[in-house]
Amino acid sequence: MDHFLYRDGALYAEDLPVTEIAAEVGTPFYCYSTATLERHFRLFDEALEGTDHLVCYAMKAASNQAILKTLAAVGAGMDVVSGGEYARAKAAGVPGDKIVFSGVGKTEDEIELALSGGIRQFNVESEPEMAAISAVATRLGATAPIAIRVNPDVDAKTHAKIATGKSENKFGIPISRAREVYALAASLPGLDVVGIDVHIGSQLTQLEPFELAYNKVAELTETLRADGHNIRRLDLGGGLGIPYERSNSAPPLPVEYGAMVKKTLGHLECEIEIEPGRLIAGNAGIMVSKVIYVKSGEDREFLIIDGAMNDLIRPAMYEAHHDIVPVQEPEPGQEPARYDIVGPVCESGDTFAKARDLATLEAGDLVAFRSAGAYGAVMSSEYNSRPLIPEVLVKGDQFAVIRQRPTYEEMINRDSIPAWL
Ligand code: LLP
Repeated sequence: MDHFLYRDGALYAEDLPVTEIAAEVGTPFYCYSTATLERHFRLFDEALEGTDHLVCYAMKAASNQAILKTLAAVGAGMDVVSGGEYARAKAAGVPGDKIVFSGVGKTEDEIELALSGGIRQFNVESEPEMAAISAVATRLGATAPIAIRVNPDVDAKTHAKIATGKSENKFGIPISRAREVYALAASLPGLDVVGIDVHIGSQLTQLEPFELAYNKVAELTETLRADGHNIRRLDLGGGLGIPYERSNSAPPLPVEYGAMVKKTLGHLECEIEIEPGRLIAGNAGIMVSKVIYVKSGEDREFLIIDGAMNDLIRPAMYEAHHDIVPVQEPEPGQEPARYDIVGPVCESGDTFAKARDLATLEAGDLVAFRSAGAYGAVMSSEYNSRPLIPEVLVKGDQFAVIRQRPTYEEMINRDSIPAWL
């Protein structure tokens, strides 16, 4: 459930008509709903009720300071994957002991930044990275809490570009080598081995792959404990999918996921961490765009809109589906019209949807891309020198621009000219 609903024929973001926001900020823009962000965080938090747990929002999904502050205020920790994300989380007021640091290639500078600013744990992805963390911690006279990310070799049954838990993927250490790597961890100075980490992929629409992976983690926990490691925390990653197509059957709910987690891992009495990104932010955001032209092709109609692949890359990159709806709801009984919906960028890949049935639209009409809150704004670029589009946060009947659209001048002034030119 989200808070982008029609009222009297017009699409609202919470209690605000989307047209009103568009009139003030111009199109295209991203629009997030505070109530939806909070609700999705709480669904996970409540799903793990009764177990010692922390929901660490995977902020790579949407990392605007206002979004982070909204989630931090309701108790979220953060999962970060770069020094930049760590700095953003700290700037939003998240304490270090609620930040976990994931990612396959943490640099020594990033490790030092997190160790100095405070960190809940590093999720270690390889032996050389572990050695680097040990070395930096020793140099700083600090102790780095670590979990080791294991690769359980399970098929997440999702898009190949976002599956991470097969042995062919670059992530984690093979679970078959876990005992050896934990023994090495225990022998290195400056490390405190607190637990095990696993993340098998994103946009999972079934519980089964999670369950397979978590059963392996349960078994490994017992083995490692028998080896003398004090395994007290399990980080289960993120990955629960969202319904991108309202017409399709919905993926499992956080409460079902939580029940499965308790069933497979509850007996171990570990603290549980999860790192959901998409499910918290995805349906909490829309991208609003305006029709520039309706163009008749040989055998199809093109809806040329002012949003493009640089603003929302997911359809071009993953063949992802986003529901696209008119901001003005069509009259009941109105015949749908079929369009290829495209942006102005000079690539054929700049196609959001083919043969999509929509209301009959004209230049100047607004459309909204649903489920665009996660991996939308954060993956955008200024390709074709199209300035990054603004982000807006709604709360009830108020909204605030949480990132301005840069002017052309600001965009150009980020470049600098060498003295010889
Ligand atoms: N934890 C780790 C270590 C991750 O790598 C990810 C996502 C998450 C948590 C959060 O997963 P989520 O709950 O959002 O599924 N750009 C792609 C998705 C890439 C996901 C990368 N890792 C997309 O637009 O579909």
